[in-house]
Amino acid sequence: MPALVLLGAQWGDEGKGKATDLLGGSVDYVVRYQGGNNAGHTVVVGDQKYALHLLPSGILSPGCTPVIGNGVVVDPSVLLSELSGLNERGVDTSKLLISGNAHIITPYNVTVDKVTERFLGKRRIGTTGRGIGPTYADKINRVGIRVQDLYDESILTQKVEAALDVKNQLLTKLYNRRAIAVDQVVEELLGYAEQIKPYVTDTVLVLNQALEDDKVVLFEGGQGTLLDIDHGTYPFVTSSNPTAGGACTGAGVGPTKISRVIGILKAYTTRVGAGPFPTELFDEDGEALRRIGGERGVTTGRDRRCGWFDAVIARYATRVNGLTDFFLTKLDVLTGWEQIPVCVAYEIDGRRVEELPYSQTDFHHAKPVYETLPGWSEDITKAKSFADLPKNAQNYVKALEEMSGAPISAIGVGPGRDETIEINSFL
Ligand code: GDP
Ligand code: IMO
Ligand code: MG
Repeated sequence: MPALVLLGAQWGDEGKGKATDLLGGSVDYVVRYQGGNNAGHTVVVGDQKYALHLLPSGILSPGCTPVIGNGVVVDPSVLLSELSGLNERGVDTSKLLISGNAHIITPYNVTVDKVTERFLGKRRIGTTGRGIGPTYADKINRVGIRVQDLYDESILTQKVEAALDVKNQLLTKLYNRRAIAVDQVVEELLGYAEQIKPYVTDTVLVLNQALEDDKVVLFEGGQGTLLDIDHGTYPFVTSSNPTAGGACTGAGVGPTKISRVIGILKAYTTRVGAGPFPTELFDEDGEALRRIGGERGVTTGRDRRCGWFDAVIARYATRVNGLTDFFLTKLDVLTGWEQIPVCVAYEIDGRRVEELPYSQTDFHHAKPVYETLPGWSEDITKAKSFADLPKNAQNYVKALEEMSGAPISAIGVGPGRDETIEINSFL
């Protein structure tokens, strides 16, 4: 079973970093296949806490080769500062591989992201402001800059010129900003080129050869299923495919190679940025989830919106990703509630709806239909096996499993590597 995909089953921040790091010790490669430094993956190892944005969480496991695939968008300044930050803390990053086909987040992409959001005003998406959307837009418009372009000054200059031709019109005439000079951008990008060069390679070839040699490859998703550009709550989404298919296109590996798809699922729900969220809470329960769960964005420091578990979304994630397993995280955060509501269906204009509506209008009108499960008050952070959990916690997990459509193979009871209950082995 050599190739596993690990991805977010909700709106991101489910605990992918912790789950990836946990498996990192047993896999040969950990590959980011989409997104960029809009991600914020927290890994806690002993008393050390790491916040990774662009680098795969496997970078913290010495035996593992971290890979940035062709589907990722790379901000070179972020890449270099993240690498040096880890080096200063004694982490060896020399094994990192970066696809020459990955697209570069240029300084003008970051500018366009920020001014577009400002221009949208009330209608803004609430992006992370990292230039993600504009960089993917350039990729699709065929005016993107790729990592390999850093090694041919003439091509780089022509491409930056082509991209800025249009953008400077927008910036100066629509957004009332100063034009960006081609030379300045080229100079900045060339300044990163030599430092990045040792990592750049044909990652598609490397990964396919690794799979032929029966090595274990783990694909680590950024964001989550409901933030997917095709399958998420469009337009309140990110600009890439965090869903399982994205691992194939974003790493150049065929779907026949993928043996397991693990959905990371929080025991309640959170969301950052704008967009519909049927189980969102605006009362003291929402505040308590935020406080106890430490629900504050790793990337932007924004408070996360919090709500109860939504089984409609979990079922949807099972379907669009072909999930084989769930990794349920943050069960410990729910300790202390006497009753825990779980959304089992929606009510839309008087109708009960069991599956995620395809229509945006319907989803905006969806009201959660709750079933209430009995809670528990015992500390569960030391639990090592399912049997160690209080009966009501066991029943909560079993109920979620039944509603969500795939087995729950691991349960997180704390942020640390060892605060995990393994039920079925992933490898
Ligand atoms: P990611 O973006 O999916 O990697 O998730 P984030 O790192 O943005 O947010 C998840 C947060 O929950 C981090 O602070 C983790 O350290 C923490 N975390 C992960 N799993 C658990 C768990 O089982 N229990 C608790 N209490 N915290 C967890
Ligand atoms: P991880 O990997 C949660 C959200 C933003 C915004 C929308 C679009 O840590 O789970 P973008 O900058 O991507 O164009 O913003 O997507 N978003 C995330 N929300 N976790 C993330 O990453 C996110 N990455 C982007 O808040 O609503
Ligand atoms: Mg995160």
